[in-house]
Amino acid sequence: MTVTEDTNEMSAQRPTSWRDRHRQRASGRRGKYGVDGGSITLFVYGGALSALAVTLFRQSRRGHGVRALLAGSAALAVVGSAVSYFYSTGPGKRSIWTEVLDELSLGGDEDVLDVGCGRGAVLMLAAQRIPRGRAVGVDVWRRIDQSGNSLAATERNAVLEGVDDRVDVYDGDARELPFRGGSFDLVMSNLTLHNIRDADERKEALDEVVRVLRPGGRLRIVDLHAEGYVGPLQDAGCVDIEVRRLDWRTWCGMPGHHLVLVEARTPHTEDDAR
Ligand SMILES: C[S@@+](CC[C@H](N)C(=O)[O-])C[C@H]1O[C@@H](n2cnc3c(N)ncnc32)[C@H](O)[C@@H]1O
Repeated sequence: MTVTEDTNEMSAQRPTSWRDRHRQRASGRRGKYGVDGGSITLFVYGGALSALAVTLFRQSRRGHGVRALLAGSAALAVVGSAVSYFYSTGPGKRSIWTEVLDELSLGGDEDVLDVGCGRGAVLMLAAQRIPRGRAVGVDVWRRIDQSGNSLAATERNAVLEGVDDRVDVYDGDARELPFRGGSFDLVMSNLTLHNIRDADERKEALDEVVRVLRPGGRLRIVDLHAEGYVGPLQDAGCVDIEVRRLDWRTWCGMPGHHLVLVEARTPHTEDDAR
């Protein structure tokens, strides 16, 4: 009998959902969003830097000044590239999307979808702007694309950011979104669709993104070579399509390399579509 009572008491205190479980651990912490490109990026930068440091050490001990200078310069270039890479996939990404979302002037009650949300860096920024809306994330959770990528990690971040009351996360592929047509006011996607290598399948994903938008719904995609999405979006019926080359915040370790933002919307009416 005592055991039963204890068990009941414990189950009353035991967190009943992922929200309760994470909330208990949260206590003021902010979300953790991993590294785009997965842990392999850390190994590549770490490996290159270690090899160059060893070369630099050996050459300078042997008195080979020019070779040591070359190795030192290469090591500096690797450090610079790593700093740019980690900036772009962390603070740079959040800075770009803060601007994109601010420009949208959201009313606060929208339904927003993030396709390929990963651990939710962009999803949480949107959720913070829609206290009366819903922020939905969908992903296939590839760890090669983002370190520590998982549905549970994203749910945890929603709690840590204090937006779990309006965030829902689902398993799902961009090529076959698990939502009814016309469900969202805004669909966003960051660095996701280029992972679909086949052009026809990428077009399927763009068709899906447009399908789930309401009439007059807005679309914002940031990606590599996203200018190539304009044709498929026109074919899918989008209007007001604009392409913007983003600035140095999207260098991702390669000065001069830029990501592209595509903006579009679905027509309100048939007349609007013409
Ligand atoms: C570089 S990460 C970016 C994640 C997130 N958008 C962000 O900016 O933090 C790319 C994401 O795309 C997801 N992804 C790749 N192929 C996908 C597909 N076919 N459908 C849905 N998500 C996909 C990966 O699992 C990963 O989470």
